[in-house]
Amino acid sequence: MPELSVVIPTFNELDNIPRLVERLHKTLGAEDWEVVFVDDDSPDGTFAAIRDIAQTDPRVRSIRRIGRRGLSSAVIEGILSTSAPYVAVMDADLQHDERVLPAMLAKLKTGDDEVVVASRHVTGGSIGEFSEERARMSQLATRLAGLVTRTKLTDPMSGFFMIRRHSFEAAAPFLSGQGFKILLDLLASAPKPLRVAEIPYVFGNRAHGESKLDTAVMWDYGMLLADKTIGKYIPPRFVLFALVGGFGILVHFTTLALAFKVARLAFPVSQSIAIMVAMTCNFFLNNTLTYRDKRLKGMGLLLGLLTFYAICSLGGVANVGVANFVFKDEGEAWWLAGAAGAVVGSVWNFAASSVFTWRKKA
Ligand code: GDD
Ligand code: MN
Repeated sequence: MPELSVVIPTFNELDNIPRLVERLHKTLGAEDWEVVFVDDDSPDGTFAAIRDIAQTDPRVRSIRRIGRRGLSSAVIEGILSTSAPYVAVMDADLQHDERVLPAMLAKLKTGDDEVVVASRHVTGGSIGEFSEERARMSQLATRLAGLVTRTKLTDPMSGFFMIRRHSFEAAAPFLSGQGFKILLDLLASAPKPLRVAEIPYVFGNRAHGESKLDTAVMWDYGMLLADKTIGKYIPPRFVLFALVGGFGILVHFTTLALAFKVARLAFPVSQSIAIMVAMTCNFFLNNTLTYRDKRLKGMGLLLGLLTFYAICSLGGVANVGVANFVFKDEGEAWWLAGAAGAVVGSVWNFAASSVFTWRKKA
């Protein structure tokens, strides 16, 4: 077992791998280390490049994940695959200056910190050549991160850090594992606030390939924050599901008005059309927002839509049943009866669709 394991998630980083391994050798040569690449079966063949090197270099290990995506979850699996007492996490694109690693290791070994973060925002560090827009986004994200970190640090968004293995193991069962921000996830999920030290570094330019940060990643970040703040009380997914449902009511009444008043269709026909349109619209919104990590495509999409119709129809029946039941007992509070029906109906829709429509992939 090496003393230090460097875990590196990769997706389409073919051209960066050889140089990165070379640089790690140069910096860590004298230490007792290994590197673990976790590749999500990159279409550019990154994994083959890693394996070529691994076949002659015993310090290089790798995991190839098939049918999966995600920086955070890749890092988690990489760390869990090692037994090293100290684990570093860094990017493959040479933007994280590997020459900081020995100082990080020394700090962890001599002090009583549990995590050392390479920070762009302490004296001596910098965000390098971030575009103005990216810099502003990063600033906003950093401020929001303060909601969940429980520890004072300047760069909770950093993807470059080193952690003691047992501190990681203690937090692992509570990690959300979604998106890009594994450090933030760790800080927010550890059973006890982590003792953190920071050390400066300058964020470099990407050597080859392109960044995977896109709107989906930003959405994941919002979900991570929601999970670590309100998640203790109510699943953020349910909140989204309910918001989509609320929007569905609007869709329903708009369609109903158009069908009944404008197209002058019979009321039962108009109402039926409105229900179908609202259900269909809710399905697609939930599929792209609420369940974006389990998004259905192709045949699965069609099947999902059909199960969703079936579930919502049952939800509608339950809604009316419960409302009628409450209404008999409390003749005055008709709105309470209506609300009770709506709550039961939507909880049913949420629970059933999360089991039958957006099933967790094995
Ligand atoms: N296995 C795997 N799966 N790896 C991934 C995935 C994925 O779905 N998405 C990205 N990666 C890898 C990339 O190949 C790269 O090695 C690393 O994760 C970071 O991805 P980039 O696309 O280069 O991210 P970035 O440069 O925009 O963001 C970096 O800077 C942030 C600071 O602003 C990352 O280091 C973040 O972690 C960091 O917080
Ligand atoms: Mn990058």
